[in-house]
Amino acid sequence: MPTIAGPSSSPHKHIIAPRKRKLRSDSATEVAATAVSTPIKRISPRRCVVSSPGTPIEEVKEESNRVLEKQFDFLDVKSKWNPRDDDQMKAVKEVLHVSKAPSTIVCREDEQRRVLEFVKGCMEQKKAGSLYICGCPGTGKSLSMEKVRQQAQDWAKQEGLPCLETVSVNCTSLTKTTDIFSKILGESETGKKANGSSSPLQQLQALFSQKQQSSNSKMMLIIADEMDYLITRDRGVLHELFMLTTLPFSRCILIGVANAIDLADRFLPKLKSLNCRPLVVTFRAYSMQQILRILQERLVELPYIAFQSKALELCARKVSAASGDMRKALAVCRSALEIIETEVRGSTDHEPQTSVTEDQVVKLDHMVTALAKTFKSPVVDTIQSLPQHQQIIVCSAAKAFRGSKKDRTVAELNKLYLEICKSSMITPAGITEFTNMCTVLNDQGILKLSQGRDEKLKRVSLRVDEADITFALKEIRFFRNCLL
Ligand SMILES: Nc1ncnc2c1ncn2[C@@H]1O[C@H](COP(=O)(O)OP(=O)(O)OP(=O)(O)O)[C@@H](O)[C@H]1O
Ligand SMILES: [Mg+2]
Repeated sequence: MPTIAGPSSSPHKHIIAPRKRKLRSDSATEVAATAVSTPIKRISPRRCVVSSPGTPIEEVKEESNRVLEKQFDFLDVKSKWNPRDDDQMKAVKEVLHVSKAPSTIVCREDEQRRVLEFVKGCMEQKKAGSLYICGCPGTGKSLSMEKVRQQAQDWAKQEGLPCLETVSVNCTSLTKTTDIFSKILGESETGKKANGSSSPLQQLQALFSQKQQSSNSKMMLIIADEMDYLITRDRGVLHELFMLTTLPFSRCILIGVANAIDLADRFLPKLKSLNCRPLVVTFRAYSMQQILRILQERLVELPYIAFQSKALELCARKVSAASGDMRKALAVCRSALEIIETEVRGSTDHEPQTSVTEDQVVKLDHMVTALAKTFKSPVVDTIQSLPQHQQIIVCSAAKAFRGSKKDRTVAELNKLYLEICKSSMITPAGITEFTNMCTVLNDQGILKLSQGRDEKLKRVSLRVDEADITFALKEIRFFRNCLL
């Protein structure tokens, strides 16, 4: 476990929020009270927006009234939850599992509508097009795209349009970036008919450059999820992929999904210059009300009540203030369930009949403990939410200060940064942008930059514990090898 950087090692207020640190104290109830009444105001370094984490609970109640009413309407018919019952416990854990696709996807209606309208428009006009979806992790992008894919296929059937061919590719599954083209060829009927003598990209290009004999030819919907993994030094693969939609007889509807928020800035200008202008739909981080509503909507499927509403509110408030990542919210709730599970199991050994009261549900103190376990330290949280290039700098710094060296120059740090970029085939930022990012990290309380005229000769040292950096970055796939 990483250590929590104390005030002396990390004096910056964005990082060391005393209230957050209290989460690790033993006084669970005290923390609960603080956390419910005073949301932590941390400026997210990410460019995605966490909408109004500080909304008063009254408003939240109003917002989620419908779901609450639905839930409490069931109160009479809902049986009492028994956390000792393995089947019941399993059922609650299941509805809160990330792999369980919810029967209704709430809070993403607008985004889904916009994407579906775009696909419908392309299909109606038999016109190719591209759309770029970006948003922070756990904001329902993949979930929503799966729904849109089904809706688009159903709609095509309903309208009597030639059925829509769909190809969903998770780019993390590709061995090399150019495999995306063979994957598209291999998974589509249309692609299978292509001429096998040239490269998969050339075959696709040829396919979309020739007039089709039948006017009824199928449109092809390609969903490229986790598109960040296609980023190469020259972004060639990304460009070629999007350019498929601009070929004269293209029937390709491309949806690229990525969570690198700044990818749009980095690759859209080049595409524009090539006359390809994808529509951009941003999935914003979930707000407290949205997280609460999603949790309630998932739990309402159960015939019993397992969580006290105050406990769910606390989870939603904390997760929205930290990242707005729905995966985290689900993980916290599941962890709270495990806590109550251990509690009742423990009591079974000693007092089999009496210790579990009838209204034993997940309460505020269970949630407080679960939150403390999940949000290990504010430093970890902050590092995990930095933009990728800043994370690479932090990673370089962790490597640079491994061992005894106390500080380094900006130029030395830059050298390590360039090495990581090179080995990961990522285009590095120029030295000016690099020093700017170091200044941002200095302001965040992660690095300490000395004063000086020559930017490159400024001394850099770490303000946070190296273990916190390793802990934070090793949870991110990209950095796993860098930190070896
Ligand atoms: N609106 C929602 N309703 C119900 N569950 C949701 C919702 N949004 C997200 N979830 C839950 O959170 C999980 C993560 O969502 P999803 O995989 O769609 O995130 P993502 O935006 O694609 O994240 P990443 O950028 O990391 O790929 C889903 O598996 C689902 O269980
Ligand atoms: Mg996803």
